[in-house]
Amino acid sequence: MSPIYVSEVKYMIICKNRTDLQSVITKIKAQGKSLGFVPTMGALHQGHISLIHQSVQTCDITCASIFVNPTQFNNPHDLQTYPRTLDSDIAMLNEAGCDIVFVPEVIDMYPQGTQHIESYNFGSLETVMEGAFRPGHFNGVAIIVKRLFDLIPADTAFFGLKDYQQVAIIRALVEQEKIPVRIVACPTVREPDGLAMSSRNMRLNAEQRKQAVEISKTLFTVQAMVGKKSVDDVKKFVIDTLNNVPLLSVEYFEIVHQNTLQPIQNWNEPAVACVAVNVGDVRLIDNVLL
Ligand code: PAF
Repeated sequence: MSPIYVSEVKYMIICKNRTDLQSVITKIKAQGKSLGFVPTMGALHQGHISLIHQSVQTCDITCASIFVNPTQFNNPHDLQTYPRTLDSDIAMLNEAGCDIVFVPEVIDMYPQGTQHIESYNFGSLETVMEGAFRPGHFNGVAIIVKRLFDLIPADTAFFGLKDYQQVAIIRALVEQEKIPVRIVACPTVREPDGLAMSSRNMRLNAEQRKQAVEISKTLFTVQAMVGKKSVDDVKKFVIDTLNNVPLLSVEYFEIVHQNTLQPIQNWNEPAVACVAVNVGDVRLIDNVLL
């Protein structure tokens, strides 16, 4: 299964099941080529495409996956309404220079079903923020990422820093499971007005979209408050400011250590400010390094 060239344009290989994927991967590995991997849940935007570009620039072959992973959704409505835009995703990946896309079905990734699944322990990394508000979420992420790494023995895998805590969990997974892959964390890509790009943004109506920009605006204000106000005052400021925007409701705002993800008490430590906000029924997260 080699790439198809039509008039000098290269088309990527689409693998719809494990068997197809494995035969392609075996050929790549036999040729000694370096493999970059970008796991996604589809509904792609320029944030994902920046990961593909990073992989294309640094690896011989780039493989992406598109799989809406049921085990990482603790809310069935969220799973049901998660945007699915496969045709445009495939066009965007092809255009970005991706070589292979793996688009499995649930049965491929969960042949034994999604009920009795393995359980990971990431200690205090998973008891805060997303881990606290979305029970089981990171276990589902770890399960699928481990299964994808087993199928796609990448040299390097690329993840977006918008999901800051997810990157920490994946680094911990790679260490615990001794997976020989280098994890590269790439900067959050933002809309021109500052809103962090997210697949969920496409579910915002016009008024929600207008008000959602207050999330990043408020986080950028925090960067200017470091060292001038206490950590507690900054937390109160952010929560009050965002909750005063009519369509926004803060789920959490935390200022945590960049590595341990535990709340900090003063500004002497490397910190990251992380927020989760409900904009109507669309849940958005964002963060800034401080
Ligand atoms: O960040 C995501 O899109 C997902 O959590 C991931 C890493 C693809 C696992 O399903």
